[in-house]
Amino acid sequence: MSDIEQLKAELLGAIGEAADLAGVEAIRVSALGKQGSVSGLLKTLGKMSPEERQVEGPKIHALREAVTAALGARKDALESAALDARLASETIDLSLPAPEMPKGSVHPVSQVMDELAEIFADMGFAVATGPEIEDDWHNFTALNMPETHPARAMHDTFYFPDRDAQDREMVLRTHTSPVQIRTMLSEGAPLRIIAPGRVYRSDSDATHTPMFHQVEALVIDKDIHLGHLKWTLETFLKAFFERDDIVLRLRPSYFPFTEPSVEVDVGYANEGGRRVVGGSGDEPGHAWMEVLGSGMVNRHVIKAGGLDPDEWQGFAFGVGVDRLAMLKYGMDDLRAFFDGDVRWLSHYGFSALDVPTLSGGVGTPA
Ligand code: PHE
Repeated sequence: MSDIEQLKAELLGAIGEAADLAGVEAIRVSALGKQGSVSGLLKTLGKMSPEERQVEGPKIHALREAVTAALGARKDALESAALDARLASETIDLSLPAPEMPKGSVHPVSQVMDELAEIFADMGFAVATGPEIEDDWHNFTALNMPETHPARAMHDTFYFPDRDAQDREMVLRTHTSPVQIRTMLSEGAPLRIIAPGRVYRSDSDATHTPMFHQVEALVIDKDIHLGHLKWTLETFLKAFFERDDIVLRLRPSYFPFTEPSVEVDVGYANEGGRRVVGGSGDEPGHAWMEVLGSGMVNRHVIKAGGLDPDEWQGFAFGVGVDRLAMLKYGMDDLRAFFDGDVRWLSHYGFSALDVPTLSGGVGTPA
């Protein structure tokens, strides 16, 4: 046997016996590493005569290839044996009980807020916010309710005992309308926003709680008129209740910050103690529920928002979110919304995975 064949037999034998990956690597270094036996043979090629090289070259290269291939094959074999051993030793017992399902659900108020954001996003409205602890100027004065205005009395306002650092009277905001002022001042015009949030009034019965939720909407642009308001309200309420037979009653009303002002009622039927939206509230067995106040933004309010009322007009409305939820999902006592009773929540709540979308439906109870 030549030296080369001898070396090849030794190396392939050793590789076949290598017990683990470290053993394979040690052989690779000893043969193909810088000081390795095969690398040593390759170096001898340089000193050979061309004739000799022609004979020895192919043999040495063939040796290197055979060793490289054997190393790779042994490595693969060891790796798959290790995987087999792991698969044999690790087991999953599928008969174990599944972990408990996560409990808890999305509150109907959050659900309705998400539904409204989805509907209005589709109509090009952005979401704006403002503070719940508001100063008197944003909550009243800028909305055309100067200090002596009688409408202030209607708001059952919670006042703070102390004035703030800038000596302003502070209140818990009584509506989301101050966000109109804040957004006009910060963004200018044109504008198309909704502002969802908590509001506070000192009032409590089956349909009033001291804290409740509103979504304000404000559109400021050129040549905006009452028709835009009416279309927006109809489109929004039909999308929200997911039916076309909604009947709205628009009643002339008064708000200091809109002129003219319109209150909007939705017709519903009382079916087995459940409120079902649809039809005129004047039909037998039907009634009206007031869901929002609205109107064309008063010139004084546009001015307080830093805009020129001869150039910019708009409409605004404020929706009672809790009322909408009651009407859509059939609850009859608003106070239960805020009791935190898990039985009520598991009955009326929504799955966290049921995200409202226009295509998938804006709200089907879990
Ligand atoms: N802010 C009014 C309220 O809380 C609702 C409203 C908003 C009316 C915007 C007109 C325009 O009763």
